[in-house]
Amino acid sequence: MMQRVVTAELLDGLDANDPDAVRSRLDLRRVHRAMGTRAILLSGLKALAAKHPKDRPLRLLEIGAGDGSLMLGVAQALTPTWSRVDLTLLDRQHLLDKTTVDRYAAVGWTAVAQVVDVLDWAAASVSGTWDLVVANLFLHHFQGVQLDAILAAIALRTSRFFACEPRRDWLALAGSHLIGAIGAGAVTREDAVSSVCAGFNGNEITALWPHGDGQWQVQEYSAGLFSHCFRAERPDLRP
Ligand SMILES: C[S@@+](CC[C@H](N)C(=O)[O-])C[C@H]1O[C@@H](n2cnc3c(N)ncnc32)[C@H](O)[C@@H]1O
Repeated sequence: MMQRVVTAELLDGLDANDPDAVRSRLDLRRVHRAMGTRAILLSGLKALAAKHPKDRPLRLLEIGAGDGSLMLGVAQALTPTWSRVDLTLLDRQHLLDKTTVDRYAAVGWTAVAQVVDVLDWAAASVSGTWDLVVANLFLHHFQGVQLDAILAAIALRTSRFFACEPRRDWLALAGSHLIGAIGAGAVTREDAVSSVCAGFNGNEITALWPHGDGQWQVQEYSAGLFSHCFRAERPDLRP
């Protein structure tokens, strides 16, 4: 098994409006198509939200959400099954534009940006709980006490969590080296390789998850050619 190595990604060091960053975020949409991310998220989220009562909106938080375009595709695919969703898109950069917010509104979702470093969010005293928290291509940026703190904060604020991360294996590594073939620019080409090296495998997230009182049911599995998923749920915190 490849050793997990976390390094800073180029995109994270760029200003939101830097042309290389703008290009890389557009590349990411193509990467998601190649990875089949939307279908993976749809199946994970549908399973977790199945028991949510229909008489109140689902409070959904995405951490490390980027420009919100990935979740918008999910929202559109879920229409009209899920029509009442209050979505918060947390990212340390302000990347959510009005057009995207309007597109969410067109399918009945409210979308708001929360611009904060996830580590500050994790350290803050708990304010509000979420019906469902999702992370996509995000947890792999972290390791050690930082990753522990993020997972602990999630477990404190929700009873359902789904993560879809790069799978750290030789197939994904080979794929990441070939990403130029789908037109990805220099930043994405380098970050794709870094992401796989920092990705997850086996039961690595399960081993880090704060199982607390033992009520959590967790599942960790490979999805598609290049993804690694983790889901956790427990009986609802709310009455
Ligand atoms: C690889 S992108 C993934 C975006 C989106 N989830 C997707 O899959 O398309 C990672 C995102 O995490 C954000 N990010 C990185 N470090 C962060 C931090 N410490 N706190 C909050 N957001 C962070 C970046 O700004 C970026 O938008």
